Amino acid sequence: MPGDTAYHDALGDRFAAHAETSPYNAFTDRPAMLALAGDVAGARVLDVGCGAGHYAAELLARGAEVTGVDGSAALLRHARARVGGRAALRLHDLEEPLDFAEDAAFDGAVCALVYHHVTRRARLLAELRRVLRPGGWLLVSTSHPAADWRHFGGSYYSEDWVELPLGGGPHAIRLRRMPLETFLGELLDAGFVLERLVEPRPVAALREVDPAAYDKLTRFPAFLAVRLRRP
Ligand SMILES: C[S@@+](CC[C@H](N)C(=O)[O-])C[C@H]1O[C@@H](n2cnc3c(N)ncnc32)[C@H](O)[C@@H]1O
Repeated sequence: MPGDTAYHDALGDRFAAHAETSPYNAFTDRPAMLALAGDVAGARVLDVGCGAGHYAAELLARGAEVTGVDGSAALLRHARARVGGRAALRLHDLEEPLDFAEDAAFDGAVCALVYHHVTRRARLLAELRRVLRPGGWLLVSTSHPAADWRHFGGSYYSEDWVELPLGGGPHAIRLRRMPLETFLGELLDAGFVLERLVEPRPVAALREVDPAAYDKLTRFPAFLAVRLRRP
């Protein structure tokens, strides 16, 4: 059975605080992914692994209709506090089918920094393809393979489960390390069409808040983000 990679209890609370202001999440991943999303006004969007609801809040502010799912009850509490009743939020293990959703129920799906936690990735992608309408879009961000290589060493081509400390605290998160060709290959094999790939740099505002992090993230890639189309 796949291991449980949802961020439970204290790890959930720690991630909720981290995601709010972290140079990585707030200033690098989220702005890049929201730029890839473009105009979402009126779109039905599935937030896959919605965490503390930071994406849901941004998507709602841009006029989307949001459904968010996550496997952590702790993080869903944070998400509910953030967006109230404005988004449909549900506890769901992404190793299982998205049986709460009809075929073609969504115009778009955001899968931010969760793909690398999932074991049954081919099944999740098949499910995302099912619940997206033809022509719908899928955004996926993940840990940059070069960052994982730099951090964990060994072979760039390693495909294994590794533990990454979260923001210098006592908690570690478990993720699947994989080279670029595996990450992209899995998405293409699932039948999605690549529209754009970006290696996000931090937004300029980070320079004032945390110059050292800004300098680091403009030189060392932390994430990859792709926009795909469901044919
Ligand atoms: C790095 S956080 C990203 C959260 C959010 N997308 C964001 O960017 O702020 C990863 C999220 O994936 C969730 N997650 C990991 N494995 C999961 C699983 N098998 N089922 C559901 N959620 C899972 C965690 O609970 C956590 O909320």
